[in-house]
Amino acid sequence: MEPEWYKPFKVKVVEPIRLLSRPERERRLREAGYNVFRLRSEDVYIDLLTDSGTGAMSQAQWAALMQGDEAYAGSRSFFELQEAVRDVLGFDYLLPTHQGRGAENVLFSCLIRPGDVVPNNMHFDTTRAHVLHKGGEPVDLAIEDAYDPQSPHPFKGDMDVHKLEALLKEHGERVPFVLLTVTNNTGGGQPVSLSNIRAVSEVAHAHGVPLFLDAARFAENAYFIWEREPGYRERTIAEIVKEMFSYADGALISAKKDGLVNIGGLLALRDPELHERAVEQLILFEGFPTYGGLAGRDLAALARGLREVLDLQYLHDRVEQVRRLGERLKAKGVPIVEPVGGHAVYVDAKRFLPHLPQREFPAQALVVELYREAGVRAVELGSVAFAREDPDTGETVYPELELVRLAIPRRVYTDEHLSVVADALGAIAQRRDALRGLRLVAGSGPLRHFLARFEPLSLHGHGGSGLT
Ligand code: F0G
Repeated sequence: MEPEWYKPFKVKVVEPIRLLSRPERERRLREAGYNVFRLRSEDVYIDLLTDSGTGAMSQAQWAALMQGDEAYAGSRSFFELQEAVRDVLGFDYLLPTHQGRGAENVLFSCLIRPGDVVPNNMHFDTTRAHVLHKGGEPVDLAIEDAYDPQSPHPFKGDMDVHKLEALLKEHGERVPFVLLTVTNNTGGGQPVSLSNIRAVSEVAHAHGVPLFLDAARFAENAYFIWEREPGYRERTIAEIVKEMFSYADGALISAKKDGLVNIGGLLALRDPELHERAVEQLILFEGFPTYGGLAGRDLAALARGLREVLDLQYLHDRVEQVRRLGERLKAKGVPIVEPVGGHAVYVDAKRFLPHLPQREFPAQALVVELYREAGVRAVELGSVAFAREDPDTGETVYPELELVRLAIPRRVYTDEHLSVVADALGAIAQRRDALRGLRLVAGSGPLRHFLARFEPLSLHGHGGSGLT
């Protein structure tokens, strides 16, 4: 029987926001080099740049902050977090890091040697950059459906197990571990099924290679399994989460998402020997093992958040809010990635702006226009973030997906806020043919999207005067 759904929280504290006038927004864009990462947040009306560290904590989490133990060594808050990690994720060893990429750095420093190959369903940008930083080669092995924004596949985050098998046969000795990202952020916040996690685990282990989950959004992934995977409807989210991690040798977790905190990360491990090596890296890069990269109060809030996020009512409310935004956008003729993912709606900029070639950064042009239109900040996940140079030919290789992500912070915005976003994109859709592309004027490398600067192109593709 379908549970009776209700909204499981109300608002206790409010944060003022403001909407700048259109000329002011235009000026801010120009000053920011048409890169919304360079905007000040107080100049943003509705901020959908990311769901990372932007959520609202619960009263229990705020109370936990006051009880944080700030001891350098042996902090009580560490042991609370260790207990939560054991209960919720099922790993004995826990290394707290300042955020997800801290965990990437620690684990990859231990395991990746130059020339290694790291398979993933799809690497997120910082994960890809960290693999490259250690001399590794990141390889994406998502199923074909992941690259089709209109495919209705219920688990578009799944890894292609045959491709993994082939890669391990060919490069087995060069593969230090397999990564699986749940949910697949780069591919649209799409879930990975439990049967796929199990299959990937079996293939990796048959080749003697460990499996790690990049599990920033593990609870949202579990909700989709509960909703869609046969046999899981009678299980609790806690049971599904436990099963997901049971197939992995460890997990990298950006706690800024499903940890329900504003900062923090975790590296969770099973192997005591790897734990010992990782602790050395942790001390070098992050801090003493019982606080890692965090204050005691952060550990305490995270220990609460890991348990709170398992609430089915909370997850339903969250995923449905994101889905409602997707439905509204579709009704207004805005092409989106379907099915709608867990933490964000992804607009398909290739279909939205078919007249703009990828070298003119259509997704970034749409991000800019959305801020101009309504003060809404989204993020580009397309040619700015993911285009690469072919090492042999020197030519630019553009990514298959050209997306604008509208990431919804947890427990922060109401449906009224989100209808502003839908209306703005609907209005832009009406005059989409008039939108022009951008020219990159500064920024390079795999992290260029954070710092790049652009100029608007005129109708004929030349750099503009800064006015469109
Ligand atoms: N892995 C995934 C799947 C992520 O989505 C992120 C961050 C990280 C790792 C890195 O974690 O930011 O705590 O260091 N994603 C954020 C986002 C930044 O906007 O999607 P971090």
